[in-house]
Amino acid sequence: MIEPLKRRRARTHNRPHYDIRSFDMAKSIQRKEIIVLIQCQIISPPEADPFVVHCVVRPDVSRNRFMKQNKIIFVTGATSGFGLSIANRLVSEGHKVYGTSRNPSKINVRLDFELLQLDVTSDESVKQCIQGLLSKTPTIDVLVNNAGMAVIGAIEETSIEQAKLQLETNFWGSVRVTKEILPVFRRQRQGHIINIGSLAGLIGVPFQGFYSASKHALEGYTKSLRFELEPFNIKLTLVEPGFFRTNLQHSSVSATKKVVDYDSIRPKVLKALSDSIEHGPSPEIVAHLVSKVIRSKNPKFKYRVGNDSKFLPILNFFFPRLFEFGAKRKFQLM
Ligand SMILES: NC(=O)c1ccc[n+]([C@@H]2O[C@H](COP(=O)([O-])OP(=O)(O)OC[C@H]3O[C@@H](n4cnc5c(N)ncnc54)[C@H](OP(=O)(O)O)[C@@H]3O)[C@@H](O)[C@H]2O)c1
Repeated sequence: MIEPLKRRRARTHNRPHYDIRSFDMAKSIQRKEIIVLIQCQIISPPEADPFVVHCVVRPDVSRNRFMKQNKIIFVTGATSGFGLSIANRLVSEGHKVYGTSRNPSKINVRLDFELLQLDVTSDESVKQCIQGLLSKTPTIDVLVNNAGMAVIGAIEETSIEQAKLQLETNFWGSVRVTKEILPVFRRQRQGHIINIGSLAGLIGVPFQGFYSASKHALEGYTKSLRFELEPFNIKLTLVEPGFFRTNLQHSSVSATKKVVDYDSIRPKVLKALSDSIEHGPSPEIVAHLVSKVIRSKNPKFKYRVGNDSKFLPILNFFFPRLFEFGAKRKFQLM
C-alpha cells in the first residue's frame, strides 16, 4: 500500500509532463516502513514548480508487491525421484534449497544443495532436523512434503507393522514436518506448504491399499489445514501425480505374507504397476510444475499431473461404471 503524506504540485496545467529528478529511499526498521521520496521536475510548462511525492510503504501490508523472488525452500526426500528433480530445478532457478535424506553420508553424487539428516517416521529426527534448519536460516518460504515410500501387496498379505510403516512415512511423516514448521510460518505470517499427494489419493489402487490409504489421509488433512492456515497468509497446495519414472518401486516394501488365492492375480497387477512406473514420464515434469506453483502469486489448491491422474478421477466422477472397467483393465484385473 502506498500512502501519500505530502503532495505539492503545479496546478497551472491539467495534465503536466514531468520528469523524475531524484529518487530516494529510507528504511525505518523499527517502524517497519520504507519511506520513498520522489522529486519531480515539470517539463511543461517549464516555469512550474518542481514537486515532491513522499510515500510510506508498509511491507507487511504490501507483501506481495515486495515479495522476494529467490526463496528459501525445504524439500524432504531430496535424494531421488521427484525430490531430487524438484531440488535441482529450484537451485538452478536461484532459490536456496535445503534437502533431506535418512543417510546423507551415503550419498556419493555431488549435489548443489545442502542435505540434512531426516527420517520422517521419527519425532526426534524431525525435531532435530528443523532445529538444524533454523540454525542455518531464520526464515523459510516453502516446505515441500515429498518424502515417501510404497508398501506393495494385497491388503490381506500386508502385516499391520508394514501398514503402519506406510502411514508413518507418507501421512504422519508430512504431519510431523508440517507441525514443526508451522510456528515459523505463523510468526512470519507467510509460508507455502506443498504436499505431494498421488493419484492413489483419489482412487483406490489395487495391491497398494495402504499406500492409497496414506495418500487419501494426506488429501483430507491438507483440505482441512488449508482453511485453518488461510488467516495467517500460509498457502497450501496438493500436487497429485499419476505414475512417474522414479525409484519408488525399487525402494518399495513387499508384503511379507503370501496368500495362495492371490497367486493368479498378484503377478499381473504387480507387473502393471511396475510397468506404469518404469514407462511413466520423467519426474522433471513434476519439478517444473512445483517450480511454477512456487512462482505463482495465487497458486491453485490442487494440481493433477500425468495423464492417469487427470483422466481416471474424471472418469470416476462422471462415469463410475466406465471407471471400474477402465481401472480393472489398467491394473490387469480382467
Ligand atoms: N513415482 C510415482 O509414480 C509417484 C506418484 C505419485 C506420488 N508419488 C509420491 O512422490 C513422493 C516421492 O516419491 P518418488 O516417486 O520420487 O520415490 P523415490 O525415488 O523412491 O524417492 C523417495 C524419497 O523419499 C525419501 N524417503 C523415503 N523414506 C523416508 C523416510 N522414512 N524419511 C525421510 N525420507 C524418506 C528418500 O530419501 P532417502 O532414502 O535418502 O532417505 C527419497 O529421497 C512420495 O511421497 C510418493 O508417494 C510418487
